[in-house]
Amino acid sequence: MPNVFTTRRIPEIGPNKLREQPGWDVQQWNSDDVIPRDRLLQSIKGCDAVLTLLTERVDAEFLDAAGPQLKVVANLAVGFDNFDVPELTRRGVIGTNTPDVLTDTTADLAFALLIATARMLPQAQKYVKEGKWKTWEPLGFRGQDVHHATLGLVGLGRIGGAMARRGAGFEMKVIYYDAYRRRDLEEQYGYEYRDSVETVLREADFVSLHTPLTAETRHLMNAERLRIMKPTAILINTSRGPVVDMQALYDALKNGTIWAAGLDVTDPEPLPADHPLLTLDNCLVVPHIASASIKTRDDMSELAADNIIAVLNGRAPKTPVNREVVEQKGLR
Ligand code: GLV
Repeated sequence: MPNVFTTRRIPEIGPNKLREQPGWDVQQWNSDDVIPRDRLLQSIKGCDAVLTLLTERVDAEFLDAAGPQLKVVANLAVGFDNFDVPELTRRGVIGTNTPDVLTDTTADLAFALLIATARMLPQAQKYVKEGKWKTWEPLGFRGQDVHHATLGLVGLGRIGGAMARRGAGFEMKVIYYDAYRRRDLEEQYGYEYRDSVETVLREADFVSLHTPLTAETRHLMNAERLRIMKPTAILINTSRGPVVDMQALYDALKNGTIWAAGLDVTDPEPLPADHPLLTLDNCLVVPHIASASIKTRDDMSELAADNIIAVLNGRAPKTPVNREVVEQKGLR
């Protein structure tokens, strides 16, 4: 009888599908808080599958605690920097993520951060709530234009591509850097390739980060690169917090090196309420909500469950992160 453990309360659609599988024992950490590590390690003992969040480190310790019965770890996220993929692969455990279903919802939020920071929406709302709105002010809340500005993308994968389409809809010029050049999209939509991150930073009015967190991208946006950006430029990050050096960003925002930043992700997460960045009016921070629409979170829950159901029924999961293990096992 397969044992499955889910590490958090998530939209019911996924857990319900797991519970409908005949004879499955489906357990859950039924809370909105992170499961303590020792409880997690106890709870996954003897499991065939674990449905994880990006808050769980899936490493050798996790895999040892689960034991040799473990066949699949399904992450409720597109990013899987919480996975030690080589270790999963070495042990023949399939890892899965939730790409595609969250692409447009995430890009919507990235674009919302872009407009909100450009047009100073948080500051303006605070002003109204504090009773400071006395008249129409010709000099008040003059932000940056979005339309016809240059949108610089670092990464033109699924979410970067969806962001590019939004930018094009606002008649922005879209430039990008990606290790993998997309000549097809250049031809189809007129996006312009730049051969380095630095060139993008130099030209862009808005820089939006769409890269996974890896050893190479950690602190990609450091003091030196922030200095290359225009003083009127805005940085948007919906990728992973550590892609930006937070101290360097604080200094850049405080000193006027750049104009503003909109962050869905921070380092650390959660960002403590007394963090210096939160004292700055030109930094908009939201709590890692880019994929948080009702439908998308349902779709993520369902996809993670479907991946588990496929593997435990001897079929290939839809979205593996280590396809070689799926092939080794001959799953189709
Ligand atoms: C969330 O950050 C995700 O990777 O889906």
